[in-house]
Amino acid sequence: MESKTKKTILITGGAGFIGSNLTEFFLESGYKVVCLDNFSTGHRHNLKDFLDNPDFKLIEGDIRNLADCNLAVAEADYVLHQAALGSVPRSIKDPITTNEVNVSGFLNMLTAARDAKVKRFVYAASSSTYGDSQGLPKVEDVIGKPLSPYAITKYVNELYAEIFSKTYGLETIGLRYFNVFGRKQDPNGAYAAVIPKFVKQFMSHESPVINGDGNYSRDFTYIDNVIQMNELAMTSQNPEAVNSVYNTAFGDRNTLNDLVKYLKEYLSDFDPKIKDVSVIYGENRVGDIPHSLASIDKAKNMLGYDPKYSLQEGLKEAVGWYWKNLK
Ligand SMILES: NC(=O)c1ccc[n+]([C@@H]2O[C@H](COP(=O)([O-])OP(=O)(O)OC[C@H]3O[C@@H](n4cnc5c(N)ncnc54)[C@H](O)[C@@H]3O)[C@@H](O)[C@H]2O)c1
Repeated sequence: MESKTKKTILITGGAGFIGSNLTEFFLESGYKVVCLDNFSTGHRHNLKDFLDNPDFKLIEGDIRNLADCNLAVAEADYVLHQAALGSVPRSIKDPITTNEVNVSGFLNMLTAARDAKVKRFVYAASSSTYGDSQGLPKVEDVIGKPLSPYAITKYVNELYAEIFSKTYGLETIGLRYFNVFGRKQDPNGAYAAVIPKFVKQFMSHESPVINGDGNYSRDFTYIDNVIQMNELAMTSQNPEAVNSVYNTAFGDRNTLNDLVKYLKEYLSDFDPKIKDVSVIYGENRVGDIPHSLASIDKAKNMLGYDPKYSLQEGLKEAVGWYWKNLK
């Protein structure tokens, strides 16, 4: 902590997967946390452990409403902006709502943070900003054309953050998350992420569907690595580190077939029958890039990032959590 008085962090999207994990970590680290969420994809059960904590405050509101943003940010020293509508397929189905939340809502939050004179605005950017660029590993300053409405919104966030830094002197840091997974990630709904969806299906002995032949690869990133990046980005005293974007990943890639192999292995420790559940191969999905792998050199050099969890280490933790909490 920087001083004896507790600092306050506004975590938007605090009822969601990443936001609720950040909330838990920063409350335990001695901060006060204000959560702004409209519960569109987040859940009250993600907040149940904090509701009685005097250092926690929930504001049920919408980032599309500037007054809600101003209210939420009023006492904040820092903002960790996570609220957005995730999912490429959702954005293809409904680009207008995705844009309203992810672009107009983001601009509201930036404006509110500027007016409240917060110390720093750290926000969830996305690996989707690499779009159709072919090179691996992805380095921050080489991006391609976006491949979905969602990717456009996340790139526009970066452009706005840069302009707010230059024009108004607001300190910003964007974290380009790469396929984050871990405890509290929602396994339900049409837009569920692959890991919790597959875990739930394996647990019910249902065959998961892999889009394509399973050789697409991703830099799967465990939530604790993401928490570390948020803390470093929020507290870094390196003046060269601010007003920039960082890959937030482990820095290794695994195919979907690898992922399924590990999931079956770890889940079979709880239920041996899961070994016999097969997978189904379907069509590739529109807007999906074949491979994704981050260079994490910039985060290491500028912020001192040192991710502790590989896919396998993270999966063991996550699978144990799902077994306890979904059964
Ligand atoms: N999970 C990933 O792999 C991943 C990868 C890249 C980027 N991101 C970004 O990280 C952030 C958090 O993602 P997540 O996986 O935790 O998703 P999530 O859906 O679990 O969390 C998003 C939260 O934002 C809230 N929200 C949505 N619209 C809102 C609005 N209009 N006003 C207030 N709150 C609103 C939702 O209710 C939810 O609690 C998002 O910005 C997402 O785009 C996530």
